[in-house]
Amino acid sequence: MQIEIDRITKLFGATAALHPVSLTIPSGALVSLLGPSGSGKTTLLRILGGLEYPSGGRVLFDGRDATALTVQERRAGFVFQSYALFRHMTVARNIAYGLEARPRALRPPRAEIERRVARLLDLIQLPDIGARYPSQLSGGQRQRVALARALAIEPRMLLLDEPFGALDARVRKELRQGLRDIHDKTGLTTVFVTHDQHEAMELADLVVIMSMGRIEQIGRPQDILERPATSFVRAFIEI
Ligand SMILES: Nc1ncnc2c1ncn2[C@@H]1O[C@H](COP(=O)(O)OP(=O)(O)OP(=O)(O)O)[C@@H](O)[C@H]1O
Ligand SMILES: [Mg+2]
Repeated sequence: MQIEIDRITKLFGATAALHPVSLTIPSGALVSLLGPSGSGKTTLLRILGGLEYPSGGRVLFDGRDATALTVQERRAGFVFQSYALFRHMTVARNIAYGLEARPRALRPPRAEIERRVARLLDLIQLPDIGARYPSQLSGGQRQRVALARALAIEPRMLLLDEPFGALDARVRKELRQGLRDIHDKTGLTTVFVTHDQHEAMELADLVVIMSMGRIEQIGRPQDILERPATSFVRAFIEI
């Protein structure tokens, strides 16, 4: 699905978290929102997912105005840094949660849910952990399960906010590759928030550099590295 962000603004009281921001995310792209703390990355991601409404501007999905759609109607898969899995549910039930919470008429039959959970456990390369509880998993495994849970609802887009922020460097790199593989298999339009420039440059097709609620530069990683558009970008990527 193509996502168009058309002159989106967001005010929190007197604070402008987003000045008019415009951006087109091509269908199937893996895009990174990169910028320092407070630059508006999470706010923009939450507006895409319908967790927050903009003060002005529009969001279009495949050319259709989606600004007023609810979270459910948008069908976004979310993964956050501390996506608390339900501790009293097994991994399999956690993954199935979004499907089982649907009203009966929209809920797939149990056998279909079980098949989907098994497929997703394969996809995250943890086929044997369905019966475990989250407390029996490593941090990296938990984030893989969170990703499977986000995918279970067959989302139209995947929205990730610093999903690997709490993990050590080696696991982080592994999961980055895992996400890239899953993205390439599913072709899902994916928006990935990070403040880690190496992560953004390694992972993304397109990097969007933000500062103080504005977009400083949009480009492919190599273009940004070779031709930083502003002194802010140059300083930020040279850290
Ligand atoms: N619910 C809120 N109420 C008031 N101000 C908010 C709220 N959410 C965000 N802000 C403000 O909006 C600005 C952008 O915040 P945002 O969370 O989008 O930044 P970020 O780029 O995700 O930062 P970080 O890397 O620290 O997560 C900040 O100045 C922040 O204080
Ligand atoms: Mg944030």
